[in-house]
Amino acid sequence: MNSTVKNELLKRLFEAKGEPVSGQEIADHFGLSRTAIWKYVKDLEKDGFEIGTIRKKGYYLIASPDRVNEANVQKHLTTKRYGRRIHYFDTCGSTQVIGHDEAQNGAPDGTVILSEEQTSGKGRMSRPWSSVGGKGIWMSIVLRPSLTPQQAPQMTLVAAVSVTRAIQEVTGIEPDIKWPNDILVGGKKVTGILTELQADPDRVKAIIIGIGINVNQVETDFPEELNPIATSLRQVLGKPVDRAELIAKILSFLELFTGLYEKHGFGPIKLLWESYSNTTGKQVRAVMLNETIVGTAMGISDEGVLELKLADGSIRGIYSADIEL
Ligand code: BTN
Repeated sequence: MNSTVKNELLKRLFEAKGEPVSGQEIADHFGLSRTAIWKYVKDLEKDGFEIGTIRKKGYYLIASPDRVNEANVQKHLTTKRYGRRIHYFDTCGSTQVIGHDEAQNGAPDGTVILSEEQTSGKGRMSRPWSSVGGKGIWMSIVLRPSLTPQQAPQMTLVAAVSVTRAIQEVTGIEPDIKWPNDILVGGKKVTGILTELQADPDRVKAIIIGIGINVNQVETDFPEELNPIATSLRQVLGKPVDRAELIAKILSFLELFTGLYEKHGFGPIKLLWESYSNTTGKQVRAVMLNETIVGTAMGISDEGVLELKLADGSIRGIYSADIEL
């Protein structure tokens, strides 16, 4: 089966919003027979799509499976650079580990790894990341921006702003960002971002951005201890969210905001990030490996570092910590 024909057929069925799409027209477009198009329809049905037929009018889409697969993601994808190469897995240990291997083997800028399930999802500070099958977005993106390792944390904030905008656009929910890159709704975490580097001392070779989004979990899908601190978009919205659509929207905003960052520097991203921040102006505790400090969050520096004003009036830059509000 030719995936271009399959993707085009699905795109047209999807865009027709339940109206019939002529099999003859698609057959003519690709110089194929109607029987060949019918075989593509059967193949889509095998993937879980429900497709109806109206005599002399064509095929119409009844329902799409909630699967993060090529057919579903491609029908929403509008990017030029990112997601042009996507590796799909039903299950894997961690998309982040695969992302590192891909980057090492020369994967181009914007390569994406997606899995329905992760068996050893990795969070920040070597914590495990719960990645139940078929409910969330577990994705790593290999980027190759021209940056020094010192600038790399800025890309984490580019990613946080991109995911926040995408969630807003697809669901209407208005999330907050807790420094550096936790995305929260109503104080509970819906998204975590893990940024890792492959770098020489003066040059970033690849950034692997791992994004974990709780999309369609219900309470019982989370380990019990996470329920007080984590939630899913479905729990907030009261209805399921199309994961493939959200993935495509994230890649589209990531492409847009990375472009903005490359052209105009960190300034515009900093402004966007601050508009979503729930940290700025608040009294916070920064819990680090060897110490905990309390102070007022003044904002972020041009390097993306969190600036805390301590009780003695001094300003302290925080590079890596858990922030408690
Ligand atoms: C955090 O601790 O907040 C960051 C969580 C990052 C989880 C994502 S899920 C996709 C990618 N693969 C992983 O193993 N981790 C990241």
